[in-house]
Amino acid sequence: MKRVFSGIKPTGHLTLGNYLGAMRRWSAVDQHEADALFCVVDLHALTVDHDPGRVRRLSRQAATLLLAAGLDPRLCTVFVQSHVDEHARLSYLLECVATDGEMRRMIQYKERAAAERARGGSVRLSLLTYPVLMAADILAYGTDEVPVGDDQTQHVELTRDVAVRFNQRYGRTFVVPRTTHPEVAARVMNLQDPTSKMGKSDDVGPGVVYLLDEPETVRKKIMRAVTDSGSEVVHDREARPGVSNLLEILAACAGGDPKELAGAYETYGALKKDTADAVVEVLRPVQRKHKELCADPAYVEGVLREGAEKAREMARPRVDAAYRAIGLLPAG
Ligand code: TYM
Repeated sequence: MKRVFSGIKPTGHLTLGNYLGAMRRWSAVDQHEADALFCVVDLHALTVDHDPGRVRRLSRQAATLLLAAGLDPRLCTVFVQSHVDEHARLSYLLECVATDGEMRRMIQYKERAAAERARGGSVRLSLLTYPVLMAADILAYGTDEVPVGDDQTQHVELTRDVAVRFNQRYGRTFVVPRTTHPEVAARVMNLQDPTSKMGKSDDVGPGVVYLLDEPETVRKKIMRAVTDSGSEVVHDREARPGVSNLLEILAACAGGDPKELAGAYETYGALKKDTADAVVEVLRPVQRKHKELCADPAYVEGVLREGAEKAREMARPRVDAAYRAIGLLPAG
C-alpha cells in the first residue's frame, strides 16, 4: 500500500483554501486508499514571529479541525510534529545535504523574508531552513505521495532533490516522493485580491473564508468578493482572476467544471449567491463535528497521543538508518 504524508501549519485559523486544496482530499480519498499520516506541523509555526500560547491553541484547533473534516484515526495517523523527535533529528542530517543556495531560491522564503523585513523585523534562521524540516517530515516516513495545494510544489521538488542526493552519496535510504494536487481549487485565491493566495496568516479577514466562519460571515465575504471589469461570466484566470476564483470555488464545492459552470451564469450576483450557498453547505458538517469534538477534548488528546506513538514507530527505523548511512557512530 502506498504511503501518503501531508501537513498543516498552525500559524492562523484554517481557511477554505486549506480545506479545498488539501484537507478534503485527505479525508475523502487518501485515508481510504493509502497508509496515510497527517500532521499538525507546529515546529514550522516557530519560523516567524509567534506567540507561544497562540501556537498551542492553534495547534489544538488544527488537530480538532482535521478530525472534524473527516480524518478517522482508525484509517489514518493524525499527530503533532513536535511529539515525534525524528523530524528534528532528521532535519539536521538533511541540512548537511541541502545547500544554502537551494534554500534562498525558495519562493515562499523570499516572500516571507521580504515581509518580515518590511515590518522591520529580522528573519529567523529557521525560516531559511524551513524546507529542510519539511523534507524531513516527508522522508522520515518513506512517503510515496504528498497531497498538497500547488503552493507547496517547489518544496516537494526540493525534497525529491535532497532524497536523491542523500541516496546517491550514502546509499539508498529514502523513497523519492511525488506531489498530488486536487483537480480544482489547487490554489484558492483571496476574495479581495484574487491575484494572491487565500492564506491563513493574512489575519485581515474580508478576503479569507475561515473554516469556522459563521454562515452569515461566509455569505458576506463571498457577496463582497472583488470581481473583474466587464460583466460576462467566463473562466479565464489571467484576464478574470476574481470571477475565475469564484467559479473554481463553486466547482470544488458543488461539483462540475469551472469552464462549463461559467456558461450557466448571466450575472456576477447570481454566481456569488450560488457560490456562497455551496460553501456554507460544505462547511456545515465540518463545523458541526468541530463543535462536538470541542466538547470532548480528551478524545482529541487521545488521538494525538496514539498518533504520535504510531508515527514514532514508523519514522524511527529509517531515521536511524540515515544516521548510520551518513557516518555517525551508533550509540550501541
Ligand atoms: P499550509 O499550512 O500553508 O497549508 C496546508 C495545506 O493547504 C494548502 N493550501 C491551499 N490550497 C489551495 N488554495 C489555498 N489558498 C491554500 N492555502 C493552503 C497547502 O498547499 C497545503 O497543502 N509547508 C506546508 C506544511 C508542511 C507540509 C509538510 C506539507 C510542513 N511539512 C510535509 C506537506 C508535507 C504549509 O505551510 O502548508
